[in-house]
Amino acid sequence: MAALASTSVLIIGGGPSGLLLSQLLHRQGIASVVLERRSRDHVLSRIRAGVLEQGAADLLRAAGVGARMDRDGLVHEGIEIAVGDRLHRLDLAALTGGKTVMVYGQTEVTADLYAARDAMDGVVIDEAEGVALHGLETDAPSASFLKDGTRQTIRADFIIGCDGFHGVSRRSIPADRLSLFELVYPFGWLGLLADVPPAADELVYASHPDGFSLCSMRSPTRSRYYLQCPLDEKVADWDDDRFWDVLCARLPAELAARVTRGPSIEKSIAPLRSFVAEPLRHGRLFLAGDAAHIVPPTGAKGLNLAASDIHYLSTALIDHYRSGDDEGLERYSERALARVWKAERFSWWMTSVLHSFPEKGGFAARMQQAELEYLLSSPAAQASLAENYVGLPY
Ligand code: FAD
Ligand code: DHB
Repeated sequence: MAALASTSVLIIGGGPSGLLLSQLLHRQGIASVVLERRSRDHVLSRIRAGVLEQGAADLLRAAGVGARMDRDGLVHEGIEIAVGDRLHRLDLAALTGGKTVMVYGQTEVTADLYAARDAMDGVVIDEAEGVALHGLETDAPSASFLKDGTRQTIRADFIIGCDGFHGVSRRSIPADRLSLFELVYPFGWLGLLADVPPAADELVYASHPDGFSLCSMRSPTRSRYYLQCPLDEKVADWDDDRFWDVLCARLPAELAARVTRGPSIEKSIAPLRSFVAEPLRHGRLFLAGDAAHIVPPTGAKGLNLAASDIHYLSTALIDHYRSGDDEGLERYSERALARVWKAERFSWWMTSVLHSFPEKGGFAARMQQAELEYLLSSPAAQASLAENYVGLPY
């Protein structure tokens, strides 16, 4: 491919944030280039989130990538909370005036976005190594990178850091211009994917003295399960039988009896972290998605927050190019962070209330029990969970 000299918006990272932004911009006639460090196969093989808020689903439709989601995704009107041997259904639709969530895997979202980018001849340069950002405080920022052994540079009006938690964008901002807020949890999630029918029709978030577990799904024939596990646990130490045994021991007996066991397609451990970098802008660089913030997965907010960032940022960039109105760009960081912090609070709360924290002692354990009793008995508490779970307004 010939080296590209310049574009309007240069996007670092070809995950869901970066691809969705380039797709939304392209539909408004705004040129962009996406630089992705990994191969496309690698990006498309990552198993991550599974639940989309209505706002995120609507944004995918607005980007022209909603057709397969609307055909194959599962609309869920409720979730279940298990506490010990009790199962309690939360009717999300009834508690929120009719809102629902869409169960549709991030892997599928990413595949749909790549297909749409290809169909529109969108430029996504994969295996771009050693990306480095330059001139962020000038009017002519650029990125250099190595592709097929050749160093290239692309200039742009704006650079958007969509390169995840370990990316280069956030680290290109001088340390004294960023405030970082972080909480690392003393456990991880061990996830297993298997082609077996889900144990329940809806997602089950299960609290148990031995640890949290989650019964999720990707389709009526594909299940996704998670177990809270110690941070030093190794996937190699978890054969499938051990996973299924531990899962069933943590679920109410009636639910455990409905778990269909089968060989795993994928198994991995993810650490849990809450993290926010402020502000989301440095000169001509804007951060979005996991590059700027991380939530623990309880409550399924990671991908949804990436989508809401992209909503604010795409609108701001479209206003800039259409009418020279920069109010959206000026206020992007403040607007996106207001929503980010509310999702951080919810994810932290869901994590705190459902996981085991033996190291915190007896008083904390009793508080957690009281919190769960309150949740299961109070329509007001349930309405609050439901309002956050289906997604706060943009
Ligand atoms: P990413 O998906 O991380 O995409 C960033 C992209 O940038 C990647 O493709 C990466 O290869 C690329 N990149 C990185 N560095 C560079 C560089 N230097 N140059 C160029 N490209 C670069 N959320 C949930 O809600 N539920 C879950 O169960 C869940 N599980 C998760 C499991 C794991 C292991 C991880 C990491 C995240 C999980 N998340 C989950 C969070 C959710 O997947 C993320 O919030 C979502 O992927 C954010 O999208 P993004 O595009 O901002 O970042
Ligand atoms: C999934 C992940 C989550 O973190 C969650 O809260 C719900 C579902 C999933 O991967 O299916």
